[in-house]
Amino acid sequence: MIDLPIILVFLNIQLTSACGRAEYRTGVECCPMCSPGNRVHKHCTEFTSTSCVPCTDSTFLDEPNGLTACILCTNCDPGFGLTVKQSCRPSSDTVCGTLEGFYCHDPTKDGCRAAQRHSSCKPGQYISHTGTTSTDTVCSDCTGDTYSNGSFTSCQSYTQCDTLKLQQIKSGTHWSDSECGPQTSLPIAIISAVVVVLAVIAGVIGVSIFIRKGRKKLSETQRPTDVHKGLQTPIEESDTEGATLFVGTRTDSCP
Ligand SMILES: *[C@@H]1O[C@H](CO)[C@@H](O)[C@H](O)[C@H]1NC(C)=O
Repeated sequence: MIDLPIILVFLNIQLTSACGRAEYRTGVECCPMCSPGNRVHKHCTEFTSTSCVPCTDSTFLDEPNGLTACILCTNCDPGFGLTVKQSCRPSSDTVCGTLEGFYCHDPTKDGCRAAQRHSSCKPGQYISHTGTTSTDTVCSDCTGDTYSNGSFTSCQSYTQCDTLKLQQIKSGTHWSDSECGPQTSLPIAIISAVVVVLAVIAGVIGVSIFIRKGRKKLSETQRPTDVHKGLQTPIEESDTEGATLFVGTRTDSCP
């Protein structure tokens, strides 16, 4: 019984030992490899060496090879947060770097294969570690009397309205500052209100006194005797429509 790995190792030795280190096998021949940046144009023959041509049109080969086609260069897709760090050359592939605001989550020897946008912190959190090309943003919660809308690198203390000689009209939250408004002192507000109420009352009293006086004057000038007092009194009391009605009644009762 023979193990499979042993067979494979045996085969491998057989194949590699068949051609030299800088050679490749084509059919029965061992041909010299093309150098990096070149591909095979024509395989070698019994009489000629390998014919090689450079890689063109955004293709490359970065190792000695016996390939008849070059490999297409990597495209650094900005949609994936990648940007060209080093352009493609016939002997080396493009090297991609990360765009601003992204971090690499699949790094290569000197570049990046895939990047991801930095996380943004939520309101109520601050950026405790700014994202780099290789690490994501780290967010932390605001505590105490501080706030952050998610874009601050530290939590800010609430605005102290009283130190600004202002009145707080909205208290702060972990995601928003307190809001201050103009100072309206309570005594002044009360005094203003009282003054207004008093002015209205005074006005009402003044008007009613004026009306009463006017009515009294009218009744006195047009009342020569007390003869009809008994008659006029109930009329005056029931009179709600004014002095003219009373005068009319008087005229009617005096022949
Ligand atoms: C947070 O506040 C800053 C400054 O007040 C502002 O520039 C920024 O746009 C705000 N960010 C968010 C996410 O609301």
